[in-house]
Amino acid sequence: MCGIVGYVGNGNTRDMLIDSLSMLEYRGYDSAGLALACPDDMKVIKTTEMISKLKEIVPSSIYACAGIGHTRWATHGKPSDANAHPHQDCTHRIAVAHNGIIENYQELKERLIQNGHLFVSETDTEVIAHLIEEYYKGDTLTAILETVRQLAGSFALLIVNEDEPDKLFAVKKDSPLVLGIGEGQYFVASDATAFAKYTKKVLYLKDGDAAVITKAGVYVCDFNGIRVVRPIQTLEWNTEESGVCGYAHYMLKEIHEQPKSLNDAMIARIDALKGTIDLSELNLTTDQIARFRRVIVVACGTSYHAGLLGKYAIERLTDLPVSVEIGSEFRYASRLLTQDTLIIAISQSGETADTIAAVKDAVQKGIHVIAITNVFGSTITREASSTIYMHAGPEIGVAATKTFTSQVMVLYMLALYLSKQRDGLSPQDLKQMIVSLKSVPQKVQQVLEQESYINEMSRLFASSGSFFFIGRNMNYPVALEGSLKIKEIAYVFSEGFAAGELKHGPIALITTQVPVVAIATRSPTYDKTISNIKEIMARDAMVVAIASESDNSIDQLTKLVIKVPDACEFTSPILSSVVLQLLSYYTALYRGCPIDKPRNLAKSVTVE
Ligand code: F6R
Repeated sequence: MCGIVGYVGNGNTRDMLIDSLSMLEYRGYDSAGLALACPDDMKVIKTTEMISKLKEIVPSSIYACAGIGHTRWATHGKPSDANAHPHQDCTHRIAVAHNGIIENYQELKERLIQNGHLFVSETDTEVIAHLIEEYYKGDTLTAILETVRQLAGSFALLIVNEDEPDKLFAVKKDSPLVLGIGEGQYFVASDATAFAKYTKKVLYLKDGDAAVITKAGVYVCDFNGIRVVRPIQTLEWNTEESGVCGYAHYMLKEIHEQPKSLNDAMIARIDALKGTIDLSELNLTTDQIARFRRVIVVACGTSYHAGLLGKYAIERLTDLPVSVEIGSEFRYASRLLTQDTLIIAISQSGETADTIAAVKDAVQKGIHVIAITNVFGSTITREASSTIYMHAGPEIGVAATKTFTSQVMVLYMLALYLSKQRDGLSPQDLKQMIVSLKSVPQKVQQVLEQESYINEMSRLFASSGSFFFIGRNMNYPVALEGSLKIKEIAYVFSEGFAAGELKHGPIALITTQVPVVAIATRSPTYDKTISNIKEIMARDAMVVAIASESDNSIDQLTKLVIKVPDACEFTSPILSSVVLQLLSYYTALYRGCPIDKPRNLAKSVTVE
């Protein structure tokens, strides 16, 4: 879960690296460092502060043709200068930046120590630098290939050697790495966001690839040194979408982008006038779809909550039973997976290790896996049988916002598509659902217009030590997601419950000090949720209700009401989620939290 970046070219290597690395800060920000390969002199400079500190401490006079950078999310050893990357060998000629985990580093380290190598950090990565040193006889690539053949685990590596200062070496296995091809310059990074403003031409390295990059070009081979050719592709992203654009935080900007991102998810897929839906990118025939007997959704965190909403939708609209499983649990569950199962794997980053492990396992068993992701060319897209892109544009804030609502939108479209292919829905019902989906961006805009009211509401509770979120049925995943959001960015203890479960235990924790956020929009379970609200209020606790615009009776119950436009049971959770995103954002703001970079978190969880 770190970010790595490499640069070789005619530009100012120091500036290019710092600039590109700052675009990867969302992947980890415990510490950062650069290595600049100058002839006969490797300059390595590190900090335990934010990446911006590098601008102060790396002299602008340093000339280097190639260099590497790293922003760290600590796994092995605390954030410190010694543990920050890049790591070096004993001679200080070689420098390595690594994203991933070396599982056999202990045994390698012991062997290297016996051979006389001196280690200065607690990291797993340092063994790589010493191993390269061990095998280096004047040809860096040969030494790297010898090294990587001995490594177990996941690794995206960037390496420079002062003996070959015009070369940048890259290696990929089970961690993301993409090459950017510019005019007279090349980038390699964990994510194309790092260099998207310089070039849109990209080359995705595959697992088991090593590359040597110079100003003159790229050479890619496998771990045995056999040349391979990888296609050059074009990024679809708009670079203007990557900046903070006048908002105080990326998270706020991304919350506001939702009318557009939701619309973009639907473009070219649904046609409200004709009442049609097209997901031909799935490459599934009607016969194949008819053969599915069950669906398993696999995801982690916020994507898991989107998956829960997908379950309700698929089960309502088709005859398929759906289970939703957490990636890290699914991969170790022993169950028989039959070929009439459809797996839907959801990951905004497309790099979540646990979700990807599930995908690989299922594909190997011949099961069709649909990936839902936001990142073009990400690992999940290469492993899954087919992919539906969310087209939400880059999401930089660590807390998922627009990607969550786009995941839900894509899942609803998928549910409709499966239903249509299985003759589960009449053309009239399909058209009505499509019209309903099409109305969502406009309704989200109406929610956003209440921002200052939601801000005020957040101020009232900003000092609360804990929160509860409750909802029933399709509002239950919304409660879970609202709870996760406030935990991760406002650092408030919070729990989300199915409202009906309250009286089976959690109600014992209800006091006047614990605000309860109840998602009580109109739905078949509305009356039951109202009963739950009454139970809570009977215990003098404060209830903030998220309710439908036309619901006047709820105002008699609690003064703390946030209204969302009237909407159907499927689309109303999207609107309520936007309210909860703003509530979390402003709570975090009042509590002085670093909103875009919450402590201990990273946007892309590429380790188990
Ligand atoms: C929460 C959040 C995380 C991610 C989770 C899965 O705001 O962002 O809970 O949802 O780490 O990430 P992806 O969707 O990239 O697989």
